[in-house]
Amino acid sequence: MKAVVIEPGRPLQGRVEVPGDKSITHRAIMLGGLARGETLVRGYLPADDCLRTVAAIRALGRTIEDLESSNRPTLRIAGCASGSSILREPADVIDCGNSGTSLRLLTGLVAGFPMCTVLTGDASLRRRPMGRVVEPLRAMGAHIVGRDEGRLAPLTVVGQRLKGLDVRLPVASAQVKSAVLLAGLAAEGRTAVTEPAPSRDHTERMLRTFGVPLRVEGATVSLDGPAGLSAAEIEVPGDISSAAFLIAGALLQPKSDLMIERVGVNPTRTGFLDVLKRMGASVAIEGVREVSGEPIGTLTVRASALRGTTVRGDLVPRTIDEFPVLCVLAAFARGETIIEDAGELRVKESDRIHVMAEELGKLGIKVEERPAGMRIEGPQRATGARCSSHGDHRVAMALAVAALRASGPTTIDDVECVGTSFPGFFELLDRVRR
Ligand code: S3P
Repeated sequence: MKAVVIEPGRPLQGRVEVPGDKSITHRAIMLGGLARGETLVRGYLPADDCLRTVAAIRALGRTIEDLESSNRPTLRIAGCASGSSILREPADVIDCGNSGTSLRLLTGLVAGFPMCTVLTGDASLRRRPMGRVVEPLRAMGAHIVGRDEGRLAPLTVVGQRLKGLDVRLPVASAQVKSAVLLAGLAAEGRTAVTEPAPSRDHTERMLRTFGVPLRVEGATVSLDGPAGLSAAEIEVPGDISSAAFLIAGALLQPKSDLMIERVGVNPTRTGFLDVLKRMGASVAIEGVREVSGEPIGTLTVRASALRGTTVRGDLVPRTIDEFPVLCVLAAFARGETIIEDAGELRVKESDRIHVMAEELGKLGIKVEERPAGMRIEGPQRATGARCSSHGDHRVAMALAVAALRASGPTTIDDVECVGTSFPGFFELLDRVRR
């Protein structure tokens, strides 16, 4: 198990870009895999999670090439021969590794194809809830079996003729919404998904880019199946969830002044920026423009004195991946920060409520754990210590940000997992520290 040692201090300065958006990369590869014709995905994220999706779409019969010559990592997904079926039965189990997005979206994607697909993942993914995708897909006619009556992977999907359905989701989850919409592409009739609060809408935006007409009425998104996709050229923006760690580092380190360019600023993903504004952070968004149906812009972050805030309700799904680093900011902010309605954090790559409380505790930071959130009183002092990522990439990076403000060096164990979403994170962090 690899460990890193983070020395505290030094401001974050300069201009950087962060790697491509993980959610958008997964979707571009999957929709490219379903499309007729050749799809190009520029600036994709070549991280473990997304490479699992590349391997899966290859296993389903599509040719994907990595065009290493271009200045941004680029994938070419070849068109399938005319008259041939779009996907073929995979010869082996598809291993999604740590990637919940791969496993959940692929379950929906393959459900309407006449073939048998077995999907599994690593120990963390095999503990995460799958009933939330399996139930609505079964209601559409899918035949899926798995451990614990289909609530846990491995899942075996035996393709069936699906029928469109009106699905009401009990939790706001872009993965579940997307799995149902992808199944809806192969289903007969209208598939509609209604969410309790808006989750990221990358699937909806990208389906339009691939030529699928989609209706959005209030909290309901619907499409008519069966629907064919035409190939597209996709530019992937930088991942705001990766940028979040650099933003947090810059806010906390005195004299920081950092510019992050080409970051995705889709409003269903920018809850973190809204929370930061309330905390008194200096973060400016400039030069916003649209690329492949997604807004991107430049963020300028300056060191700021922060104050505590409350995060709850609709803001939670828009901030969902940023809570580990938000806990760190809250610990150094003046006053009380309360996070509510965030029970979903317990079923991420780790139980992020428990793990953040435990690991920040090792640095001397007190976090009060609550069933669906936490309470943090600041400002607190951090001491250098030895802590662990628990195999969760965002925990590892959040701890690295906390370590910048500790009184001595911090060792973080088990940091290979950072490669699931942000390869080169520690090197980039080192490069911007002056
Ligand atoms: C994702 C959706 C979110 C998020 C995950 C990526 C996606 O999960 O936490 O990192 O790409 O659709 P849920 O849909 O389970 O909330």
